Amino acid sequence: MITSMDTAFCLKGRTAIVTGGDTGIGFGISEAMAQKGANIAIFCRNEKRAAEALEKLAKYEGKARFYRTDITDYANCKASVDAVLADYGKIDILVNNGGVAAMGGVLDYPEDLNEWFRCIDVDLNGAFRLCYLVGKHMREQGKGKVINVTSNSGEMCNIPSFTPYNVAKAGLNRLTKCLAWEWGPYHINVNAIAPGYTHSNLSSEAPKEVEEMLTERIPYGRYGEPIEIGALAVYLASDASDIMTGAVLTIDGGYSLAR
Ligand SMILES: NC(=O)c1ccc[n+]([C@@H]2O[C@H](COP(=O)([O-])OP(=O)(O)OC[C@H]3O[C@@H](n4cnc5c(N)ncnc54)[C@H](OP(=O)(O)O)[C@@H]3O)[C@@H](O)[C@H]2O)c1
Repeated sequence: MITSMDTAFCLKGRTAIVTGGDTGIGFGISEAMAQKGANIAIFCRNEKRAAEALEKLAKYEGKARFYRTDITDYANCKASVDAVLADYGKIDILVNNGGVAAMGGVLDYPEDLNEWFRCIDVDLNGAFRLCYLVGKHMREQGKGKVINVTSNSGEMCNIPSFTPYNVAKAGLNRLTKCLAWEWGPYHINVNAIAPGYTHSNLSSEAPKEVEEMLTERIPYGRYGEPIEIGALAVYLASDASDIMTGAVLTIDGGYSLAR
């Protein structure tokens, strides 16, 4: 429990797994936490991007490492979690940020329905695999912080059509609340950050006109930046948020207010 604002947001000596922590929102979270003193374990597949991220994080006090991980592969997740435990001895923070989008009307999907299954498997099942593996360690530890990066699309139909994505994110919001309820007695906090449009590789897939059209619908008048999501993640990872669990915090410049 916090007693002073001087140390409330400090992450010195804490170890954080950040899936997709090499780029976009995930890198904003990695960098914000590294600036507050955390050791960062980046879980993703792209080795080149991860190496660039490690280079940028090298100037901070905490030690950043890369663990090649495909979050759709349970054995791979388990090996990476074990490797983090061997390297750092503990895991204090898990950020389930890695995700993919799936666009277009579902009736236009090819018959293998891969678009649906791929999106659910990364965005929802990927987070569940790591909650399961890291949750066991946190229960033993008697403490932990889990942060699921969902989306304002978890509670609304966004533009354009993103049905599997919306469903995965709605599921992840629900998983957040169920695990918060289940794991409260172990002092494991489980919360979600639900961003709106934020600059990243994912959001830059859309043409410029789409960004302009969407920006007009954001009351605050601009996209979010990854470091702004990182600031909220620092709060949820730190002692400052000890009594908060099961919350889904929307951070979207007011976009979802009028939907
Ligand atoms: N940007 C937005 O406007 C926005 C809005 C709301 C919510 N979000 C959410 O924020 C999160 C980050 O999105 P972003 O915009 O920063 O996207 P991004 O720049 O495209 O980054 C996505 C990250 O997810 C990782 N990833 C994807 N599939 C993976 C897999 N199978 N295993 C491990 N890692 C995987 C990628 O790493 P590798 O490819 O190297 O594996 C990458 O680091 C996502 O969950 C997204 O849904 C984004």
